[in-house]
Amino acid sequence: MSQPKILVARAVFPEIIDRLSQHFDVESNQADASWSKADLIEHLKGKHGAFTTGGDRIDAEVLAACPDLKICANMAVGYNNFDIDAMTAAGVLATNAPDVLTETTADFGFALIMATARRLTESEHYLRAGQWTKWSFDMFAGSDIHGSTLGILGMGRIGQGIAKRGAHGFGMKVIYHNRSRLDAALEAECKARYVSKEELLKTADHVVLVLPYSAASHHTIGAAELAQMKPTATLVNIARGGIVDDAALAKALKNKVIAAAGLDVFEGEPKVHPDLLQVPNVVLTPHIASSTIPTRLAMAALAADNLIAFFAGKPPLTPLNAAVLARQ
Ligand code: GLV
Repeated sequence: MSQPKILVARAVFPEIIDRLSQHFDVESNQADASWSKADLIEHLKGKHGAFTTGGDRIDAEVLAACPDLKICANMAVGYNNFDIDAMTAAGVLATNAPDVLTETTADFGFALIMATARRLTESEHYLRAGQWTKWSFDMFAGSDIHGSTLGILGMGRIGQGIAKRGAHGFGMKVIYHNRSRLDAALEAECKARYVSKEELLKTADHVVLVLPYSAASHHTIGAAELAQMKPTATLVNIARGGIVDDAALAKALKNKVIAAAGLDVFEGEPKVHPDLLQVPNVVLTPHIASSTIPTRLAMAALAADNLIAFFAGKPPLTPLNAAVLARQ
């Protein structure tokens, strides 16, 4: 019996390709070529499974052109690159890669909060540019982390990891807002208090966004929300581009509506809004929150394991639309 055909849409670890090759007939984009949608369709035609990353959009057009496709396994916890309704309608299983990246991503969220509050990149650029000639009493004065109020919008696993780091490590007062409130035991573990979005924006010294992207969370933070924040506050986005209105944020940073921002994700990335590149009070990183070798390896392994389980007729580990399994 011939093996299922799998497409790996972006370059990944060679050991993952080796593992997949033990089970499947694998075509991989190991050259990491940038594929247009038409290229993706071309390569995906005739494939039974796909190993995707957050940048590979699977929608009704792709699905219609690739009727042999049965499963797409995302090497990301976020899956807004998947049109889940269209995949369910086409009987295509979707899986993501949760849990294995939680602590690494929470570490990075905290790193970005600290870099933003303490003006790490801005001061490093100044030093590298040879502008540091003498000590001065208020040079790159930032805002404190310890004892301050940390506001977390989106309190899933990563949000909880950030809350614990803030509350237990830095003695921060943690407030959060989420679609649903955590149960009392989890709130106690995270030392976090549930508040309205408005109270969070008005009272937090550091706001961090960790909510999933959807039509409902598009521009959760725009000009009106930024205006509610303290002028001394910082904003960090490690969630998804589009949750923040980047143009409005650049304007708010320029006009000192808030003190500073740290962004790992952008609207239309890898392009970055040109106005953000012009303001000094923003720390910019290229979507690397989960990027440590062990964690990226674990994410890739989980995506591969979902494909292997599925084609072996076993339950996939992290399905997003398990209902399609009953129909396949
Ligand atoms: C990264 O952004 C992910 O969703 O895993």
